[in-house]
Parts: sequence; C-alpha cells; structure tokens
Amino acid sequence: ILILAIGFTLVASAPEKPPVKKSYRGHKIYKALPGTRDQAELINRLEVLEHLGVDVWRRPKTPGQEVTLSVSPRARGNVERFFKQHAIPYSIVIHDLQSMIDSSYESTEATSYAFSLTQYNRHDDINDWLDSTASSCGSRCSIENIGTSTNGRTLKVIKIGKSSSSNSKAIWVDAGIHAREWISPAASLYLIDKLVNSYNSDSTVRSLVDAFDWYILPSSNPDGYEYSYVYDRLWRKTRSRNSGSSCFGADPNRNWDYKWMLTGASSNPCSDTYAGSIAFSEPETTAMKDFMLSKSSSLNMYISIHAYGQYILTPWGYTEDLPSDYNDLEYVGNEGAAGIRGVNGRSFTVGSSTRVLYAAAGASDDWAKAVAGIKYSYTLELRDTGYWGFVLPVSQITPACEETYAGIVRMAQAIM
Ligand code: ARG
Ligand code: ZN
Repeated sequence: ILILAIGFTLVASAPEKPPVKKSYRGHKIYKALPGTRDQAELINRLEVLEHLGVDVWRRPKTPGQEVTLSVSPRARGNVERFFKQHAIPYSIVIHDLQSMIDSSYESTEATSYAFSLTQYNRHDDINDWLDSTASSCGSRCSIENIGTSTNGRTLKVIKIGKSSSSNSKAIWVDAGIHAREWISPAASLYLIDKLVNSYNSDSTVRSLVDAFDWYILPSSNPDGYEYSYVYDRLWRKTRSRNSGSSCFGADPNRNWDYKWMLTGASSNPCSDTYAGSIAFSEPETTAMKDFMLSKSSSLNMYISIHAYGQYILTPWGYTEDLPSDYNDLEYVGNEGAAGIRGVNGRSFTVGSSTRVLYAAAGASDDWAKAVAGIKYSYTLELRDTGYWGFVLPVSQITPACEETYAGIVRMAQAIM
C-alpha cells in the first residue's frame, strides 16, 4: 500500500515539473504602433495565434500607443503578414528572448538557495523568511496561513500592526497574483522588511505601523510562480487542471466574482486570460477573498502589486465609468506617484484601469471596492515601461523596491 501510495504521488505531481525548461531561443519581441482605432482593435485578433507562440504582453488602449508582443519562430511569418496586411508599422526590438531572460536572472540561479531581498526568491524560501521575520518582531507581528494552492503550497499572510482591536484601520497588500511578474513579490518583501525592522529607528515606519494593521501576502500564486521559476519564465496563470482541456491554469486576476467575464477575459482554458470555469474556481483567489471578507470592516486600502507599465490603477476595470468617489482615489494615487518619482525620478501614470490601460473584468481591485467595500483600491504596475517587461533584471530589484516602498508610504499617509 505504501509503495502504491508513493506511486500515485509521483504520478499526481508529474505534470507540475516537466523534465525540460521551456526555451525562448529565437523568440523575438516586436513593437507595433497602431495609428487608428481600427488598427488598435485588430491587434486583439492576434490572440488566435496564441497556440503558435504569440503572446501579447501589452496591448494598446488607444491609437498611438505601442503594443509589445513576443513571437515564436513558428508564428513569425503569420505575425509579419498580419502587420503588413493591415499597414501597422512594427519593428523587432529583441532578437532572442532567451538571451534576454538569461541575462535578467543569471545571478539569481547562482544563489538560489540563499534568501535575499536583492534577489528573486523561491516560494518556500519566502515563506520561511516570513516565519522567521514574524518571530523576530514579537507581538507586533503574526502569521496566518489563509489557504492552500492547487498543488499544496501555503498562502502565508504576515500581519504587522500594534493594535489588537478588530475595528482598527487596516491595509491589505498582495503580490505575485501573476506568476511571471517577479518584481512584485520582491517589492512586497522589501515593504515587510521595512515595516518590521525599521520600527524602532524610523519614525515614518513607526507611525504607519501604529496607525494601521498591515496584512501582506507576498506569494499569491505560488504554483504559477514556481512553475515560472522551474519551467516557463513567462507563465502567468495558476496551475489548476481544466476539465476537457490539456491546458493548465486560470488567470487569477480574471477570477473574482464581480462582473466576472464581462469584458477582457477569455473562456478558453488555453488563453492567458482564461477567467476560470466559474468565479472563484481557484483555491488561491478563494482563500484571499475569504480572508479579506473576514477583515473587510477594518480594511481602508487594498493594494495589488503587479508588473509592468508604471501605473497606479484605480477601479473600475470593467467600465469606462468612474467610481463616484474617484477624486479621492485619484488624490491618493497622485500622492503615491509623487512618492515614487521622488526616489529615482520614474513617472507612474494614475488613472482608472479601463481609461489608462484596458478593460478587464473579474480583477481583484474591482472586487475589493465593490464587494468588500474597501474605498481605496489600487493595482500597482511596477517597472518598467516595456524594455525588459516581465523579465526585469536582478540589478533593478533594489531601485524598484525602494520606489515602490516610497509610493505605498505616501498612499498610506494620505489616507491616515
Ligand atoms: N495588468 C492587470 C491585469 O491585466 C491589470 C488589472 C487592472 N485592474 C482591472 N480591474 N482591470 O490583470
Ligand atoms: Zn499582473
């Protein structure tokens, strides 16, 4: 029976770690510039080439905005024909995506067994660090395991705050909803380190920890994150099975139960924006929403950290309409952008998701505002604006974390 059980365990976990790492050798990054609304709309059609290895990294919201896409050698002919046919100007900006990936995280692999705030860390190392950080911080911190991913990984939230009363003010921060956006978990760890370890030496930190309970979830999609580490650097979704399909995973940022599937989401399990079979089909999003609902009376601000593009996004993401208190959200967003700019001079665009990026329903920020009733709800899109995109090099981790921290501090001060 024991041998059988081991046999089954091996079979059950086999698909998670395929023997070979996906190579992006010969994949190219294209930039295209749609000049008209029609051309901008047409770009969406490239989605049908997804199975051939076309991945639209950033699509245009309005004409005149650049589109970034990665293209496999196999799909190259189709893509170039498409651009020519519709007279859309394009150029190849990266000739070999694999060498770009290699140069972005070489130094991470070399030290992958040592946790460091200046590296991209593995999920298990992140959770171990959270435990030891919480225990070194004493009564100001605690750990709550809020759920388990499809493949059995723990979703660990650290609470940092002085108060024990349940009606105090609170801020929620999640990171890593999308697997390949590695700078996101890194930025959340930097924030945790500051809030925990600078409490006694930094009066700004002290006032923020005294004023708010901080709930921070650094690794919201651990199966996807590990998959992006071990097998496919550009994996975005979770790793759940989809019945009737050989494709894995749902987009955890299309899976929330508010205006689910209304716009900007796919019902195709093979798509990168697959919304799931039903809202909250994924154990990861379910764990997050259950925890947030249990704290919703105290939560004043929701921040979801993503990459890339350099945006501070507010609801709504499902409609062009703005929330009735949009001016308040914009004010706090602008404070955040000013904080960020003050560190390294980077500018972040503030606005509603639909208006400044693109419409996409079923995302966590809309749910946080509409259902959990959290007034100040944001999605942060960190560095960069598209040169490195998802594969931001290790050398940029520290500056990116410093500016993100300054932005979040200013936002928290603004709602204080
Ligand atoms: N890059 C994020 C995504 O595509 C943006 C989400 C913004 N929020 C929204 N409600 N659309 O998931
Ligand atoms: Zn994202």
